[in-house]
Amino acid sequence: MGNDMEKEQMTTIRQQAKRRFADYTAHYDMAQPKIALKAVHTYHVAELCERIARDIGLNEEDILVAWMCGLLHDIGRFEQIRRFNTFSDADSIDHALLSIQILFGDEEQAGRIREFMPEDDYDELIDTAIRYHSAYRLPENISERQKMFCDILRDADKIDIFRVNLETPMEDIYNTTTEELRNATVTPEVLQAFYEHHAVLRSLKKTPVDHVVGHISLFYELVYPISKRIALEQGYLGRLTEFVSDNPDTQQVFAQIRNELRTGQDV
Ligand SMILES: [Fe+2]
Repeated sequence: MGNDMEKEQMTTIRQQAKRRFADYTAHYDMAQPKIALKAVHTYHVAELCERIARDIGLNEEDILVAWMCGLLHDIGRFEQIRRFNTFSDADSIDHALLSIQILFGDEEQAGRIREFMPEDDYDELIDTAIRYHSAYRLPENISERQKMFCDILRDADKIDIFRVNLETPMEDIYNTTTEELRNATVTPEVLQAFYEHHAVLRSLKKTPVDHVVGHISLFYELVYPISKRIALEQGYLGRLTEFVSDNPDTQQVFAQIRNELRTGQDV
């Protein structure tokens, strides 16, 4: 990579993709907070993918592909919200698969990927990264290169989830009341997952505050050192751990969580 022509071409692809993404989302109601939130999230994730890809030393073309994965990963969210008015895949539809369907189509319907990526060289890579971006674990039968793009996207997505959780009232994200949130306790299995330093399985979360601990646990899933650095530098994760509870047990749990995180920040 690197001669001017190729650089120019990549700039054009990027600008066009951005425009087309804006055109796509313009068909949805941006006055709806859930829709607006996902549009903002998308641009953040695309930028974060680029930053991670650059830090780990990928070439310009691969950086563009990583950025593209970020731009397109949640394209299915808009339709999910329009149809079901929820982000909960369990209560509606697998939004990652919906993104894949919109981009790559199915037997009856051609996908929209060509509107964003003129050549099909990276289709499989983009498909894989988006398909598994919200999976609890990656499948084992993917190549090292596929895994790398999956990890970049998954890291970027998690980093921005910390921001979203701070900027959106938790009552709205978790469909709960302030009172419930402030009085809730942390389910022991959820806390155990945190101490085992991995993400919390969806099925274990029972109380509103379990979601907060679940989101904090995402820190341990970050693959690349640069991702941990960005997460800490942005400060949203730290603020998540400062969750204010009226329940003495929960207050104690969060003090321990802050302590545990502090000792794990050697990145
Ligand atoms: Fe997603």
